[in-house]
Order: sequence, then structure tokens, then C-alpha cells
Amino acid sequence: MTILVTGGAGFIGSNFILDWLAQSDETVLNLDALTYAGNLENLAALKDDARHVFVQGDIGDRPLLDRLLAEHRPRALIHFAAESHVDRSISGPGAFIKTNIEGTYTLLEAARQHWQGLTPGERESFRFHHVSTDEVYGSLKAEDPAFAETNPYEPNSPYSASKAASDHLVRAWHHTYGLPVLTTNCSNNYGPYHFPEKLIPLMIVNALAGKPLPVYGDGQQIRDWLYVRDHASAIRAVLAGGRVGETYNIGGWNEMANIDIVKTVCALLDELRPDAAGPYSRLITYVKDRPGHDRRYAIDARKIERELGWRPAETFATGIRKTVQWYLDHPEWVQRVQSGAYRDWVQQQYGRA
Ligand code: NAD
Ligand code: TYD
Repeated sequence: MTILVTGGAGFIGSNFILDWLAQSDETVLNLDALTYAGNLENLAALKDDARHVFVQGDIGDRPLLDRLLAEHRPRALIHFAAESHVDRSISGPGAFIKTNIEGTYTLLEAARQHWQGLTPGERESFRFHHVSTDEVYGSLKAEDPAFAETNPYEPNSPYSASKAASDHLVRAWHHTYGLPVLTTNCSNNYGPYHFPEKLIPLMIVNALAGKPLPVYGDGQQIRDWLYVRDHASAIRAVLAGGRVGETYNIGGWNEMANIDIVKTVCALLDELRPDAAGPYSRLITYVKDRPGHDRRYAIDARKIERELGWRPAETFATGIRKTVQWYLDHPEWVQRVQSGAYRDWVQQQYGRA
């Protein structure tokens, strides 16, 4: 049996594949375009593992999708591939429309054709699992309850609007064509292999380099943080037992203000890699706010717990300690991401560009 993962060289996709193959012998076909965010070095541990089959390609390439689906006949498709960084969506929304909306549309159409050609039994068990974000629900006020699956969609950034559009397409392909879909909307992830343009890894690598730690606005924006391996286990749970056509919110029950995240990272670094120049918090620098910056996200993750018995295994205290330690233990990964050398990996390992 095979599952097809899109975007498996990115932060969450690569953690998902490592987690999957640690628990299962089911082959993973990994389709990833290797944009700036795709890094096959994340999967170096699987270099000689026949259970991981990598294909460089775009989810918008329909002939490629048709060929891969016909050749590998996956029993499920888990769709991570996306443009994922809010700040990039503000400076250049086009790529977000292309990949997140048009790419998802192309993938849905290819999956629908594949699914229609399966035997009745295979059709019954096939799943299209769409990986989405809590940002589609918009921004909460301090007193608002956390996002439930029934919250209206109110996306505010080009990124969240493009993900919301993709969620709607997935829903429509189920209701109109009967494609057996599952959608998960997850809060902010953190952990190993996180590209250092996002808050937590950026703070770790800047602090270690003695650079300013840029906090947007007043630093009081709140996110609900989840350790990435907990996201992987939640997706496995939904894929195995989620009800077709349903959406499940995934979160860490861990709301924290950005400035408190940054101070926690600084305190851990003070303990694990003290700097003779003084505490890392000296580097905190307040900078201009992000346009349209959402104030607060929080996830009500009771549905996935009630229906599937899933809860995160890590607390923020345990997860952030593992994460900071991972970055301290992998300076060469950070250095190759920052220099761009990680892009040579495909050439070195796979003999193509
Ligand atoms: P990422 O940016 O680290 O990785 C995205 C991956 O998709 C990269 O490997 C990239 O090369 C690939 N990709 C981009 N465009 C492609 C295309 N057109 N065809 C094929 N591959 C393409 O993102 P991430 O943080 O790992 O997020 C993965 C998914 O999870 C996204 O759908 C994102 O919206 C969602 N999500 C992320 C978070 C988070 O905190 N990072 C939270 C909730 C949901
Ligand atoms: P980010 O990691 O970009 O995730 P998202 O915008 O998808 O939630 O940002 C997390 C929070 O941290 C968000 O409120 C913006 C803020 N932030 C900073 O204050 N400084 C930074 O340099 C970055 C990248 C983010």
C-alpha cells in the first residue's frame, strides 16, 4: 500500500513522513516542487529507505499527477503542499493563489479521476486529506471563545484567504462529486526542520548569531502553539478514523503572546548556550507591525479528542526545550539553509537539479 504526500520536503510534511515511517511500512510517495521552503535534507535519514519515493514536481502539473496516480495507485493522498508564510503572501500574493488555490484544484481533479477508476472497495476506503490552518477563521478578540469547526470563515491575509479558498474547494468536491475528503485546521506548529523565516526558528538562529530579535508591533499577538510531531499524530488519527466530509480542528491548548514565546526561547538559550555578552533578551527589538496582523488565534480541539481520542503528547515546556536543543544540535542544517546550500542536496543525492 502507498500514500501520496504533497509538500513532503517542507517543515510539517517532512516531520509527518519521518513520523509515518517510524510507525508503518506503508510506502510514501512524496511529491514536492522544492520551492525555497522544500528541503530534502530534512529527509536525509530516509536516503536509502525504499519506503520513501521522492518525485520533484508541481501539484499544478496535471499530466504528472495522472501518471503518478496511475503508477502508484495510492490509497490516500495527504495534501501539505502550499505557500505558507504570511509575510511573503503580503509582498507577493501571486504564488499563493497559484499553488494554494489553483494547485489544490488541479490535485482535486486528478484525485477525483483516480478515485472514480478504483474498484468499489478501494473507492470506499480512499481518502483525500487536506491540511489547512486555523488562520481561515480570522482573528479573535481577547474575550472570544476559541475557534470551533463551526466558526465562520473570515480570512484576513492573502495566505489565509488562499487556504480558505482551498478548504472550500475540498468541501465542494466532496458534496458535489462524493470525493471522500477530510480537512484538518491546525494552529501554529513549531519543532525541528522549521524554516528560519517563521517566529520560533528565526528567534533561535538570530539569538545564536547575536542579531536583533524582531518582534512585530507590541508583541501581544497570541497564537496557539503545537509541537509538529503532535500535528503528525493528529493527522494519522484523522486519516484512520475521521468521518468523511468532516473537518477537525487541531491545537495544542497552548495560547501564548509572541513576546512570551521570544522570552521563553531566550531563557532556554541562556540555560543551554549562555552568551558571555549577557542574556539573549538584550537582543529583543520591537519593529513595525505586520499589515493586517491578526491579534489572536486559539483552537478548540475538543471534537478530535471526543471522536478520535487525540490529545497532544507535548506541553509547550517540553516541546520548546526539544526544539531549541534540536537547533543547537544541528548548526550545519541551519548554516546550509541560510547559505542556500541545501538546494544542492538534490543534485548531490539524486543527480538532478
Ligand atoms: P512549508 O512552507 O515549510 O512547506 C511547503 C512545502 O510545499 C515545501 O516543501 C514546498 O517545496 C512545497 N510546495 C510549495 N508549492 C508547491 C507546489 N506548487 N507543488 C508541489 N510542492 C509545493 O509549509 P509547512 O509549514 O510545512 O506547512 C504545510 C501545510 O500545513 C501547508 O498547507 C500549511 O498551510 C499548513 N499549516 C501550516 C502550519 C504552520 O504552523 N506551519 C499550521 C497549520 C497548517
Ligand atoms: P509566523 O511564524 O510568521 O506565523 P503566522 O503568522 O502564520 O502565525 O508568526 C507568528 C507570530 O509571530 C505572528 O503573530 C507574527 C509574529 N512575528 C514576529 O513578531 N516577528 C517575526 O520576525 C516573525 C517572523 C513573526
